[in-house]
Amino acid sequence: MTRPIAVLGGTGPEGFGLALRWAQAGETVIIGSRDAQRAQSAADKIRQRAGSSAKVSGAENVAACAAADLLVLTIPFESHATVLKQLKPALRPGSIVVDATVPLAASVGGRASRTLGVWQGSAAQETAELVPQGVAVVAAFQNVGSEMLNAEGAVDCDVIVCSDDAEASRTVRSLAIRIPGVRAIDGGKLENARVLEQITALMIGLNIRHKGHSGIRITGLPPAAYTGH
Ligand SMILES: NC(=O)c1ccc[n+]([C@@H]2O[C@H](COP(=O)([O-])OP(=O)(O)OC[C@H]3O[C@@H](n4cnc5c(N)ncnc54)[C@H](OP(=O)(O)O)[C@@H]3O)[C@@H](O)[C@H]2O)c1
Repeated sequence: MTRPIAVLGGTGPEGFGLALRWAQAGETVIIGSRDAQRAQSAADKIRQRAGSSAKVSGAENVAACAAADLLVLTIPFESHATVLKQLKPALRPGSIVVDATVPLAASVGGRASRTLGVWQGSAAQETAELVPQGVAVVAAFQNVGSEMLNAEGAVDCDVIVCSDDAEASRTVRSLAIRIPGVRAIDGGKLENARVLEQITALMIGLNIRHKGHSGIRITGLPPAAYTGH
């Protein structure tokens, strides 16, 4: 069996899209939600699209977290700290928390094309402060829109992966390239997450201005930089 991936907040469009892509790629996925039934119904919808052999299930967030050591956070920024505090007792040393959260100003009634200042520098750095020792935090997937993930076909977007833990970053890059069309690039330290999060706010503004679903591509690096390894 492949290592299970728990997508917390996987009932929303971003987490659902990632979970769908990984289930389609043959990964074992657990959808997390505040409500186990909602999680199971999202898992059923994924099975309908990915095929009856898809290895996908649903559970309440803490139970999903306890059943996996690779966790992907796709929850709104306003619930970020609260959810991480709830998950803390279920987080084991050696686990990886992948944070796709963007601290959009919309969280506090502002614009979706602006971000909030986060004391730690970024949502992902806030996560690093809230997880127990021995849990690696990786910032990734902030720039991949849910529309692309939930559509058919390849995803026209690169994923930049940032972490202070080189091995965890490598693991997440190999997960990112399971999504057709995605190239995963090592983006260096976790502190660079602040840039990834800001890019998303710009992309939301571009989507509104030009009525589209933008993605990002990084050009000019040697081929090895795009392989995810
Ligand atoms: N949407 C995109 O295209 C996109 C792209 C890149 C990054 N992101 C980032 O990914 C994250 C998720 O985006 P999304 O659009 O999927 O968000 P969303 O639909 O607003 O929320 C995702 C899920 O989080 C849970 N949730 C909502 N409010 C909560 C609360 N107060 N406490 C705990 N859980 C709560 C809900 O699941 P349950 O009700 O089932 O618990 C919901 O289905 C955000 O941080 C966003 O910035 C989104």
